[in-house]
Amino acid sequence: LSILTLHGPNLNLLGQREPGIYGQLTLAKINELLQQEAEALGVTLTPYQSNHEGSLVDAIQSALGQYSGILINPGAYTHTSVALRDALLAVQLPTVEVHLSNIYRREEFRHHSYIAPVAIGQISGFGAESYRLGLHALVQHLKTAAS
Ligand code: DQA
Repeated sequence: LSILTLHGPNLNLLGQREPGIYGQLTLAKINELLQQEAEALGVTLTPYQSNHEGSLVDAIQSALGQYSGILINPGAYTHTSVALRDALLAVQLPTVEVHLSNIYRREEFRHHSYIAPVAIGQISGFGAESYRLGLHALVQHLKTAAS
């Protein structure tokens, strides 16, 4: 199984960006932890970060035929992007949405996700652990679906 991990806007600044909300770990470190977890699970993982909505749409479109599933933190595009949602609907790849912070205990504009209704599920509020839990859930889902 091969997983595409997508990180949306401003996540390249993790470690220095609002550490009280998003934690101390850099994106490189999170990707490293995910890589270790992927190896333990026996899957391959490819990380990609972009600050650009269209680049993320391109990455989702290119995932078709290349990856078995998508682990995505859409960042602020979670709350705005019909285009990302439509791209996920177009490729129909099993997707898990993750957030470092608990978006439901923050500002009201973060309470709505355009992505959640097209994802298998969402994990929010556990910091870097959200990604690890999300990867586990996605791989479990894919293995169950394959058997
Ligand atoms: C985020 C939550 C979003 O509301 C925010 O815009 C982000 C990060 C998170 O991981 O907690 O950029 O997706």
